[in-house]
Amino acid sequence: MSEQQYAISQYPDVDEVYARLNNLISQPMRSVRPEKMQEYLAYFDNNCKRSKELTDEAKTYIPGGVQHNLAFNYPFPIAIEKAADAYMWDVDGNKYIDFLQAGGPTILGSNYAPVREKVTEMLQSCGPVTGLFHEYELKLAKLIQQHMPSIEMFRMLGSGTEGVMAAIRAARTFTKKRIVIKVGGAYHGWSDSMVFGLHVPGTGRLESAGIPWGATSSTEEFFPNSLGALKRQLILNRLLGGTAAVIVEPVGPESGTRPVPFDFNRKVRELCDEFGALLIFDEVVTGFRLGLGGAQGYFGVKPDLTVFGKCVTGGFPMAGGVGGRRDVIMTFAAGIGGIGKKAYVGGTLSANPLSCVAGYYAIKEMERTNAPVIAGKAGDRLTAGLNAIIEKHGLPFVAYNQGSIVHLETSGVMLLDFRNPIRLAKELKPRKHMIEQMGAAYMANGLITLAGSRMYTSMADTDAVIDEALSRFEAVLSECV
Ligand SMILES: Cc1ncc(COP(=O)(O)O)c(C=O)c1O
Repeated sequence: MSEQQYAISQYPDVDEVYARLNNLISQPMRSVRPEKMQEYLAYFDNNCKRSKELTDEAKTYIPGGVQHNLAFNYPFPIAIEKAADAYMWDVDGNKYIDFLQAGGPTILGSNYAPVREKVTEMLQSCGPVTGLFHEYELKLAKLIQQHMPSIEMFRMLGSGTEGVMAAIRAARTFTKKRIVIKVGGAYHGWSDSMVFGLHVPGTGRLESAGIPWGATSSTEEFFPNSLGALKRQLILNRLLGGTAAVIVEPVGPESGTRPVPFDFNRKVRELCDEFGALLIFDEVVTGFRLGLGGAQGYFGVKPDLTVFGKCVTGGFPMAGGVGGRRDVIMTFAAGIGGIGKKAYVGGTLSANPLSCVAGYYAIKEMERTNAPVIAGKAGDRLTAGLNAIIEKHGLPFVAYNQGSIVHLETSGVMLLDFRNPIRLAKELKPRKHMIEQMGAAYMANGLITLAGSRMYTSMADTDAVIDEALSRFEAVLSECV
């Protein structure tokens, strides 16, 4: 491991980021000029014909034509045939620089051969699943603990969503309290109790179709970075039987789209201690991406429980788990005899040999290559280049990064919330449409982003890849009027 252990070389000046974002949202939108946008949209009709055929046909069999939330791209989804390192190729043979990186798990780059080979060996010897114990479960748990000492025990599960569900259940069982507080706008997966205050702070049950009121009645949200509001809720909850846990994404909701001040996590830790609530870090994105010690190592804050996903299997299926304090994790029932009430967890395919071997070697490769730091440097280079383009063209856009998590805000849609409902009602749709268009414009220029506003860099992003990407970004951004 080189001197720098974490992906973040310099923590963003959060006040400055918000000042720039507020400036962005206070102005009319600066979109790609309409004639140019028509040209970009024509790219899809002319160059992505097979993608269109496939995803049109899929609409007959699959609701919406695509299954993954990140794949609902404007003007229509593209179908991918091949992925390697920093690139993806669609079924029409178009090549893209891939800043989606599957939504975050592939810090080593897509389809990384050394891990794939270990997985293939496992498939040949054992197959993907047996239902019984495999040594790699132990190896993975020990390796995680070695890098994140707060993980005294680890329970592997099927996804980040399951990890969050399990963490909340363990927290409630352990504390014997009911209420869980999250940050408004944060995404912690799609379990019943967490589809609350989703994406836009203050929206509560707006997206809770199909979820009974009872399932969200013990979930509360507070506005991003409002420690005063959190404290007030903790005080109030004391009268209602207490708070079982506060769950946060340590860089801020939506992978730091609303970034937190550096000392935010420490202050939340203090409040949790004061009120007897457990602190859950959702490190589904940050775990290993920010460094092998995770966000908890970077911020120097010890959570009671940590949720894992994505990087924990290096992009292989069934990426999820929860780890933390021995006394809390021991509340889980499965596999543990004993007395008292236990929190139930399960999963036919959880902790299968394939996922565990993938996770073990992905983390070993991250250790060997220093991938999180290399990916972080690529994120720094991309961000610096984007800011130079923004300045050169006199645009109000905002680029900042937390290592390999890069944000490029062009519409400011993420800054809208229920504190200003009139602006929210008026601007949500057009500003959302603008980032859809930006995403399409980038894609027509051979760049795949997450929803037109976020990029995950990986170890495969060499300087040459980033510089090529920057010239493509400039082609789009210079057309914004
Ligand atoms: C912070 C965070 N928590 C939880 C989840 C849910 O993880 P999964 O998609 O594996 O269920 C996600 C997924 O993007 C996430 O970003």
